[in-house]
Amino acid sequence: MSELVQLSKVGDVAVITINNPPVNALSPGVPEGIESAIAAIEKDPSVKAAVLIGGGRTFIAGADINMFVQITSGKGGRIHLLPTLLKIENCSKPVVVAIHGNALGGGLEVAQACHYRVATPDAKVGQPEVNLGIIPGAGGTQRLPRLAGVAKAVEMCTNGKNIKAAEAVEAGIVDRLIEGDLLAGTVAFAREMAGRPTPKTRERNAKLGTPEANAPIFAAARDTVRKKQRGLPAPMAAIDAIEAATKLPFEKGCEEEARLFDKCLYSDESKALIHVFFAEREVAKIPDVPKDTPVIPVNSVAIVGAGTMGGGIAMVCVNAGIPVLLKDTDQAALDRGLANIQKNYATSVKRGRFTQEYMDERMKMIKPTLSYGDFGGADLVIEAVFEGMALKKEVFAELDRVCKRGAILASNTSTLNIDEIAATTSRPEFVIGTHFFSPANVMRLLELVRGNKSSKEVIATCMQLAKKIGKVAVLVGNCRGFVGNRMFLPYIREAQFLVEEGASPEAVDAALTEWGMAMGPLAVGDLGGLDVSWRIRKEFRHLEKPGARQPYVEDKLCEMGRFGQKTGSGWYKYDAERRATPNPEVAELVKKWNAESGIPQRQISAQEIVEREVYCLVNEGARILEEGYALRAGDIDTIYLNGYGFPGFRGGPMWYADTVGLKKVYDRVCEFHKLHGMLWEPAPLLKKLAETGGKFAEFERGAAQATD
Ligand code: 3HC
Ligand code: NAI
Repeated sequence: MSELVQLSKVGDVAVITINNPPVNALSPGVPEGIESAIAAIEKDPSVKAAVLIGGGRTFIAGADINMFVQITSGKGGRIHLLPTLLKIENCSKPVVVAIHGNALGGGLEVAQACHYRVATPDAKVGQPEVNLGIIPGAGGTQRLPRLAGVAKAVEMCTNGKNIKAAEAVEAGIVDRLIEGDLLAGTVAFAREMAGRPTPKTRERNAKLGTPEANAPIFAAARDTVRKKQRGLPAPMAAIDAIEAATKLPFEKGCEEEARLFDKCLYSDESKALIHVFFAEREVAKIPDVPKDTPVIPVNSVAIVGAGTMGGGIAMVCVNAGIPVLLKDTDQAALDRGLANIQKNYATSVKRGRFTQEYMDERMKMIKPTLSYGDFGGADLVIEAVFEGMALKKEVFAELDRVCKRGAILASNTSTLNIDEIAATTSRPEFVIGTHFFSPANVMRLLELVRGNKSSKEVIATCMQLAKKIGKVAVLVGNCRGFVGNRMFLPYIREAQFLVEEGASPEAVDAALTEWGMAMGPLAVGDLGGLDVSWRIRKEFRHLEKPGARQPYVEDKLCEMGRFGQKTGSGWYKYDAERRATPNPEVAELVKKWNAESGIPQRQISAQEIVEREVYCLVNEGARILEEGYALRAGDIDTIYLNGYGFPGFRGGPMWYADTVGLKKVYDRVCEFHKLHGMLWEPAPLLKKLAETGGKFAEFERGAAQATD
């Protein structure tokens, strides 16, 4: 037997336990271990039935994703699952799989090959392969429709979402739920099945439907994929593979699945999505803050400022079961804040995301206040008042006075120097930036801004808390704009230059959304309010390089009170339903600026738009990386994927640049530098890596702790 798989016995029932922590991935050794266990069970006349179960916190979370990286980078390795599953299915004694935690991807495929499936009520099952740019590769596209029907299989294999155990029972994937002790319950079930037939999923054809019934299912699914998962080959391939299941014998269907699986695995999209998977987990690893760093228990949170961000953060905390004290300066502001929270919850209730009962419970967990009176009990305080250094300093001085020693004092500032804020307290080691993104209850990203003195315990606590509240936290250094907004500034500025050179706002936005961005930069500006970046531009203008090109049109729009959606016009005009149409004022302003500045108007291709937009993100990202404000290129990617609508299948700006080739990116940046001036000066790291054939992904500098 392999070290990763153990075989034991409970009377006449054999128990195969997979022990490959943390998630029992099907790494080399696991399939082989299962095979030898099955062989031993066949040989042992005292065994009447078998249970297959996962040790630790979960059943099997799927194939070992590291293997895919090895395979596609030519470092060897292979996925050996189909033959193992046939051996389970061919076993002459009933094999019952016991699912707790998750049965995902290859894990669910293992379960499908067993003769019976039971699960704990809180277990989840799914085929999430599309999230990695691949399709099920161990017969999932062939066995799942046989268990759950074609429509359910198509749904699960294309959207990649997990379903709960009860839904899995309803769909025919799981036979029974086991309350109480899973192993004992499954052993009892297996004993019931002993001596009965061993139904082979691959021979169950009743749910495969007819060509007439299936045609509209496949057509509708392809249509949805075309609309919602534009540019992604895997969901289409999953549908093709399931269609093959309905038309071909099982073995031939598996061959077709294998062919499609391989095609997806070697695609750029899959490589990018696998990078995204690991990068999102890598961000939690901070070299000088080890895993065993003690954390501060956070059982209560106080928030200062009940505005847009304070309200959203309050929702995030109470949704995770943490009670919140919410403070503002006057009753009207507090009422407004609470009403907004109420409105947000009510929308979710209307959409069926939450029940009314859930909403009422959460609202009760938010205690409004106008004083700092109760702040002494808070374990964590998050300040979200107006953006202004003087005000922030005043608030932190007060927090220092009223909060208990050991409480974490966090600021949600999006631009201000966290060390300067921390210096107003007697405990800068307890101060940190928690930069949530708007709307805070929706956006997954949280930039944790490390101050000069932020303690390791405070960092470890915030990283852990982020996971609890459903955020992806990325530790960043304390520079202007931190990581995300520091890169975003040149990105939105370049979009404005493109318009001033002759591209229409619609053309700029369309080029980027076609490329995969969730929204175009100008539409984003209109959504958030053009006045926000106008204010920042004015405040930091003195820090601009003298003689650097400045955008014109957006400032003029702001001077005219055109702040975007909230004023009904900005880069676009908006009707009552917030539908956008071209704003003729923009064309007039461009014409006027053109006459004044002499900037030549020309046709600009979608390719140039994308290159200028994405490469200016990359160029600034390279500076951030070299200066140590981000720990790894993957951290920057994680920020852009979770906070800025960057498409997952491109892997993030830094990964994308690596795939284009840094020499090619650098050459283009040099051309732009020549044509458009000093704002395009190539980042030294980009130049260095381009010249040495390096990659951002291989560059590691520091600890995200440098400061301006
Ligand atoms: N392969 C390799 N490593 C995996 C893994 C997998 N399938 N799933 C998780 N891990 C690793 C993570 O990288 C992480 O490692 P780290 O501690 O070194 O960072 C560790 O396991 C714990 O993972 P999480 O931090 O994500 O733990 P959570 O408890 O938050 O989540 C989970 C657990 C829901 C199982 C989540 O890890 C997950 O969604 N995993 C991936 C599931 C998946 O995509 N499965 C399909 C794989 S492809 C496949 O099976 C193809 C088949 O059809 C042939
Ligand atoms: P907002 O204007 O919506 O809310 C600020 C709230 O703070 C108001 O309700 C105000 O009455 C209250 N307030 C002011 N002084 C106070 C005091 N002394 N004590 C208690 N409450 C006080 O502002 P918003 O947008 O929520 O921003 C808050 C912070 O979050 C700012 O630092 C901002 O830069 C940052 N941020 C904002 C984002 C956004 O998109 N709105 C995104 C990320 C960060």
